[in-house]
Amino acid sequence: MNLADIRKQYQMAELNLSDCNDDPIIQFKAWMDEAISAEVREATSMILATIDAEGLPHGRVVLLKDIVEGQFVFYTNYESDKGQQMSANPAVALTFFWPQLERQIRIEGSVSRQDKAESERYFQSRPRDSQLSAWASPQSNVVSSKADLIKLRAEVSAKFEGLEKLPLPPNWGGYQVNPSSIEFWQGRPSRYHDRIKYQLKDNGWTITRLAP
Ligand SMILES: Cc1cc2nc3c(=O)[nH]c(=O)nc-3n(C[C@H](O)[C@H](O)[C@H](O)COP(=O)(O)O)c2cc1C
Repeated sequence: MNLADIRKQYQMAELNLSDCNDDPIIQFKAWMDEAISAEVREATSMILATIDAEGLPHGRVVLLKDIVEGQFVFYTNYESDKGQQMSANPAVALTFFWPQLERQIRIEGSVSRQDKAESERYFQSRPRDSQLSAWASPQSNVVSSKADLIKLRAEVSAKFEGLEKLPLPPNWGGYQVNPSSIEFWQGRPSRYHDRIKYQLKDNGWTITRLAP
């Protein structure tokens, strides 16, 4: 297969300044609603990019779980590689790609840990099996075998057996990304795409069009 021969025209829609709400969070929610209505698979998944202490970038997928006071919330292990990277450098980027809508959203901002009470509330809303996995995974650590992981999970499961409500693991919880810029991208024919970028300046959002 020649990858260079794969060529798709993007032509579903266009994006004009006049279509965009002054508030990028309202604009984001409108696009997210459209993605969910269009049954985009894993519409809430986003690439989280972080920078480590040496200045090297790292990216992986996480799930958006909420937007609270204009901040984008996801959950993970605080001691994972990404957790350590965000402790070293709070600058992060989030990227959504919705191929069925020929859309991309790029968010850049600063990350902080969510209040423990909020993490607790979300943790308690998760299925018990997911809660057990959070307890049983030293996320990002090297493990000697899959069998060891299965054993670890069985031990955790046994430890909490009979306990109706699992406590929040001390190393697990939410992060919230406070955006400083949000860009909406709509694919257009001939690679002449629409890009509208919001940037935070003096506590207000400026809106500009960028070249594709
Ligand atoms: C669709 C999808 C959703 C995911 N959601 C999460 C998530 O919400 N939180 C999380 O910690 N990892 C999630 N992961 C796993 C991460 O991509 C990653 O493997 C893990 O967090 C370890 O990353 P790290 O070693 O860089 O810390 C998800 C992966 C995929 C493919």
